[in-house]
Amino acid sequence: MVTLLENPLRVGLQQERTPEPAILVIFGASGDLTQRKLVPAIYQMKRDRRLPPETTIVGVARREWSHDYFREQMREGIEQFSTGIGAEEMWEDFAQGLYYCPGDIDNPESYQKLKALLEELDGKRGTRGNRVFYLSVSPKFFPEAIRQLGAAEMLTDPVKSRLVIEKPFGRDLSSAQKLNRVVQQVCKEQQVYRIDHYLGKETVQNLLVFRFANAIFEPLWNRQFVDHVQITVAETVGVEDRAGYYETSGALRDMVQNHLLQVFCLTAMEAPNSLDADSIRTEKVKVLQSTHLADINNLEVSAVRGQYSAGWMKGKQVPGYREEPGVDPNSTTPTYVAMKLLIDNWRWQGVPFYLRTGKRLPKKVSEISIQFREVPYLIFQSAAQQASPNVLTMRIQPNEGISLRFESKMPGPNLRTRTVDMDFSYGSSFGISTSDAYDRLLLDCMVGDQTLFTRADEVEEAWRVVTPALAAWEARTDPALIPKYEAGTWEPTEAEQLINRDGRRWRRL
Ligand code: BG6
Repeated sequence: MVTLLENPLRVGLQQERTPEPAILVIFGASGDLTQRKLVPAIYQMKRDRRLPPETTIVGVARREWSHDYFREQMREGIEQFSTGIGAEEMWEDFAQGLYYCPGDIDNPESYQKLKALLEELDGKRGTRGNRVFYLSVSPKFFPEAIRQLGAAEMLTDPVKSRLVIEKPFGRDLSSAQKLNRVVQQVCKEQQVYRIDHYLGKETVQNLLVFRFANAIFEPLWNRQFVDHVQITVAETVGVEDRAGYYETSGALRDMVQNHLLQVFCLTAMEAPNSLDADSIRTEKVKVLQSTHLADINNLEVSAVRGQYSAGWMKGKQVPGYREEPGVDPNSTTPTYVAMKLLIDNWRWQGVPFYLRTGKRLPKKVSEISIQFREVPYLIFQSAAQQASPNVLTMRIQPNEGISLRFESKMPGPNLRTRTVDMDFSYGSSFGISTSDAYDRLLLDCMVGDQTLFTRADEVEEAWRVVTPALAAWEARTDPALIPKYEAGTWEPTEAEQLINRDGRRWRRL
């Protein structure tokens, strides 16, 4: 077996995945993500025996918790947010590997204390100096935490120590570049794992397999056959209790710069020459480098923002964004974004990619739909007045799967046609539901596979693509200028116009 920690750069999606024993150090351990996602994901992997028994977790946060209190909190999280504890002995064994170290992000002494604990645990648990530092803190603390970890010499070994950084990575191009410089001062790119949980979704990874393990689709995947592409990530939830974060972020930063552009890259990129992390990431960077908003000089035709106003969701009245707790009553933060992107390369010249995302939309659904060109000449004109072009839809969630829409003759003596679907569903084909993105991403990080993490140049290119919209919208501070859509409806009128102007329509999902 390849010792994966020995050579992380050679590791790709195809490798055997048994990590070496390691300590996962979570900064921000008293937060939601740790309790809801990270620790339940590690517990599930331990139960499935995908992690070595020595695997240890150290939570770091400001609160003065004891090891035991941390264990209780994590147990609650597993009980509430995952499949539960299962056998009590399994939990007992897991809990012995959970530790807590109170500390301040900006206090060097906290890092010395942490370092001493980690060294002690190496002896006690057999973790051999392998560390994964996971920054699950507010983004404003990223630079300080990274500097302090560097100063405490906890990132000096490029093979044994890794750094996981949650999104958002920067809040615009220049802050992302600055953060990359901070990272580069203390560690090597091969140690850095910039997380985008969309890449951990099975259906997003399946895009690569679908495109590059099947011969029949690739010849059609270009300007000659594709009319346009729609990428949708729609949510029914509102801002929930996250106004503090969301008010400084908004849909463009929260969803488009990362999740939607990652899905876009996997849809549009060229075939990588291997499954090596860097081959795939290089192709993603290349497609981003060729991408731009449809018309930078005329933002209205390229990008639309929106904000939800009060409305009805599932028969219940819900407040508008500006009425949500913690939100500025004059807020201009967008909760909806639609944009039209073009790619300047041989494959995609002239093919628009329409992206949209929003909160408080009628349905939670994420999908990519490839809309093919119409037939050159329709001989069935009288029989099928409405022959629709073929559409290939990849459903990221829910009801994960892929479907192909085409025309079919309706049974009967007359020549009448109807649109039908050929469908693949993960549930019925594989009999299991797709797993949570975090277990996959944590495991990848532990085995040293960077494929599903964003590289420094990639995150910067993604910021570059959205910068013209970001800059224009931030300059328009008049609250009256932001288009509104009622909660429970699909989009503001302006977003409908963005696509209707081209003689096309948003898919109704
Ligand atoms: C997160 C965003 O990254 O993704 C949230 O911060 C959003 O605002 C979430 O709700 C959506 O993720 P998913 O996996 O539910 O589509």
